[in-house]
Amino acid sequence: MTAPCVWRAVLPAALVATFLGLNAWAEGEPESDPESDQEQALFRGMPDDVGRLEVFGFCGSCHSIDLVLQQGLSRAVWEDVLVEMVRDQEMVPLQPDIRVKVLDYLEEYYGPDRKAQEPKASRLP
Ligand code: HEC
Repeated sequence: MTAPCVWRAVLPAALVATFLGLNAWAEGEPESDPESDQEQALFRGMPDDVGRLEVFGFCGSCHSIDLVLQQGLSRAVWEDVLVEMVRDQEMVPLQPDIRVKVLDYLEEYYGPDRKAQEPKASRLP
């Protein structure tokens, strides 16, 4: 087993942030504009809220983010999933503030009542 690599956890989020920044700049749009279809497609329909970038970046770096977005779990079970990712799957433990953001987001939109829609079949816009 290789040692957990910090970059594997941090880099995806940084790349997404760069991509979105460049995108807004290239289209001459302020970043606060309503989300484009392209952005929605990139984020697999994840609601635009605090914690989305963290969930997308950290939880989509080893497997498809869809594996996460297809679930509808209580906060307690999401906490178990995070523990399991670290214990069994070599995930780097999330820093406390990021962990709270991730859990808040997953509980709000990917709880048993599933406020967010299922990701659509295709990954491409
Ligand atoms: C370091 C790699 C890694 C990271 C980061 C990671 N996972 Fe996983 N995860 C895995 C592996 C490996 C599996 C099992 C193999 C598979 O099904 O693709 C898995 C499986 C899962 C499953 C399927 C059910 C299960 O329990 O096996 C869920 C749900 C899940 N991960 C959620 C998450 C969430 C939420 C995050 C972000 C906090 C996350 N993962 C981050 C490696 C990772």
